Amino acid sequence: MQFISIQEALIKGRGKVSIRGWVYRERKLSDKVFLVVRDSSNIIQCIISKDKPFWDAANKLLIESSVILEGSLREDKRAPSGYEMDVEKLTVVQYAEKYPIGKDQSIEFLADMRHLWLRSRKMTSILKIRSTVFGAVHKYFRENGFYEYQSPIFQPTQSEGGSTVFKVNYFGHPMFLAQTWQLQAEPGIFALEKIYTIAPSFRAEKSKTSRHLTEYWHAEMEFAWADFETLQDYGEGLLKAIVKEVLEKNTEELKLLERDISKLEPTLKKKFPRITYDHALKLLKEKKMSVPWGKDLRTLEEDALSELYDTPIFVSRYPKKVKAFYMKEDPENKEVVLGFDAIAPEHFGEIIGASQREESIEKLKENLKAQGEDPKNYEFYFDTRRYGSVPHAGFGMGVERVIAWICGLESIRDAIPFPRTMIRFTP
Ligand code: 4AD
Ligand code: MG
Repeated sequence: MQFISIQEALIKGRGKVSIRGWVYRERKLSDKVFLVVRDSSNIIQCIISKDKPFWDAANKLLIESSVILEGSLREDKRAPSGYEMDVEKLTVVQYAEKYPIGKDQSIEFLADMRHLWLRSRKMTSILKIRSTVFGAVHKYFRENGFYEYQSPIFQPTQSEGGSTVFKVNYFGHPMFLAQTWQLQAEPGIFALEKIYTIAPSFRAEKSKTSRHLTEYWHAEMEFAWADFETLQDYGEGLLKAIVKEVLEKNTEELKLLERDISKLEPTLKKKFPRITYDHALKLLKEKKMSVPWGKDLRTLEEDALSELYDTPIFVSRYPKKVKAFYMKEDPENKEVVLGFDAIAPEHFGEIIGASQREESIEKLKENLKAQGEDPKNYEFYFDTRRYGSVPHAGFGMGVERVIAWICGLESIRDAIPFPRTMIRFTP
């Protein structure tokens, strides 16, 4: 018989089917064995009665044993997914050893057991949503005329500030793991004009927060002939496209995660507020949080701002001195840059960092020197401003931060299969 997924079996609801999967729960009575079996699609309760030739085999099954089952389906409102299977044939593919993960285990233990914990219904749901998010990023950019393009992971310079760069020994040369694709992406727009990527970025974050990974996936874009409004439109378009796709494809998963989807709906329906840093300081002051002009916004201030809105907000024109060297000075105010951060609702923090790019080589050099960098190492980058320079801009979106927000996760660590942080790098 041909196998069907458990989800397909549940839709079919009756008749004979063959399924395969793993024992999710087992309960052994004197005359019946109840198995809840899972596959990637769903779970179903299966009943094995004592008169079956495989009764002894069924009694030896422990959680996570892999099995093939053939039987007839029956509706039963009391069963976990509404249907049951009376098993007529059982093949044990492997008898699992006693499974180390039980109920109510500590976060630390589950992190040690990550390679097994991935199978949990929670992680399975998040991983499905993650897959939707990746697909939505590709779809959005391709539909908007962007080419997929790759920068190297081994890079000759830092780009987002030396404090979070991972240095590696590259045959005796110092090299750095990519913090962003950007410096090698900007040269690409002269060939392709509109480009995007999804790739890992690395940050030597010493902070142990619920928002920082040392290795995260970065969806980035860069485009020629850009202006600041269009950059914001793309940022808003992308976030809306992602949320729309997840709400369409992953209702079951969001339900399983107990995510209140009414919290995500405003993102689809409303235009995102676009406010300036100066205005943000005013709003914070009203909340009795005073930030001296020139200081970057900290997590607690971003969170306080996020409480005022039910969609992501774009905060633009930050002080130049707190932002990266490549951000373009605002022609109307030399103290600020034409960049914005997207701050997610509900305390999920900065999900996009964006800017118009500085075209003046002199200003780029000044900014680099101010950060203690040697401009000599950036000659290749300055060439993009020497040979047919055009206004251009781009942004980077932290994929795990977006997943954490959409899924309502307590920590970014659950948004990626194997999280890497300062204190967690195994398994
Ligand atoms: O704001 P960032 O540092 O911007 C850049 O890297 C630009 N070069 C992007 C560009 O213009 N192409 O990082 C972009 C986003 C942040 O808004 C945040 O969502 C995410 O990357 N991010 C992290 N996510 C998880 N863990 C970390 N340690 C992160 N650091 C940044
Ligand atoms: Mg940033």
